[in-house]
Amino acid sequence: MKDIETLLEQNKVWANRIVKEDPQFFEKLADLQNPDFLWIGCSDSRITPTEGLGLLPGEMFVHRNIANLVIYSDMNCLSVIQFAVDVLKVEHIIVCGHYGCGGVKAAYENSRFGLIDNWLRHIQDLIQKYRPYLNAIPEPTKRFDKLCEINIIEQVINAGETTIVQEAWGRGQKLMVHGWIYTIADGIYRDLGVTLDSMQSLDDLRIKMFDEIKNAS
Ligand code: CO
Repeated sequence: MKDIETLLEQNKVWANRIVKEDPQFFEKLADLQNPDFLWIGCSDSRITPTEGLGLLPGEMFVHRNIANLVIYSDMNCLSVIQFAVDVLKVEHIIVCGHYGCGGVKAAYENSRFGLIDNWLRHIQDLIQKYRPYLNAIPEPTKRFDKLCEINIIEQVINAGETTIVQEAWGRGQKLMVHGWIYTIADGIYRDLGVTLDSMQSLDDLRIKMFDEIKNAS
């Protein structure tokens, strides 16, 4: 196990390396936060979005929680979205989950870990909603992968349903909500093709998911 002091030593090495490459880097950064992207992702320690996407500090505003949920009553997530959209004027919200998500798995297997079970209840609601669709997938690994994808798509819809995103669209602000999935085993992010950029696209995605459930029933 790594010592806590090691972290501070490594930090000095990192900061020195950056300054060697660009002597004004941190001074420039301190003056300005101007990200184009808001990232809503899972807290999973194996995922390092800024680094993995080739972005520098200052280029992406970040919110993370277990299983990348966008919940209407979560003041933390809503405040991050509101500040990012209204003040920082980001043009892209990326909701990103990942295959093998422990949060989705715990919900799927109805595991008991304590308080977190209540948070994961939101995913269990999705399992109920998509039960016929999921049951139509015979292979358990594929079914679990599909549930990870569905969770992301539903969080994209939830983000699109917030007053913040809808008011931005209403006043003509350019804003897109994307759903991405990450594969820890190969380090690659994939676009799930559910991008929202208007009320119409939100309605279309809702109908598409509704039809998928209906067709499986
Ligand atoms: Co996860």
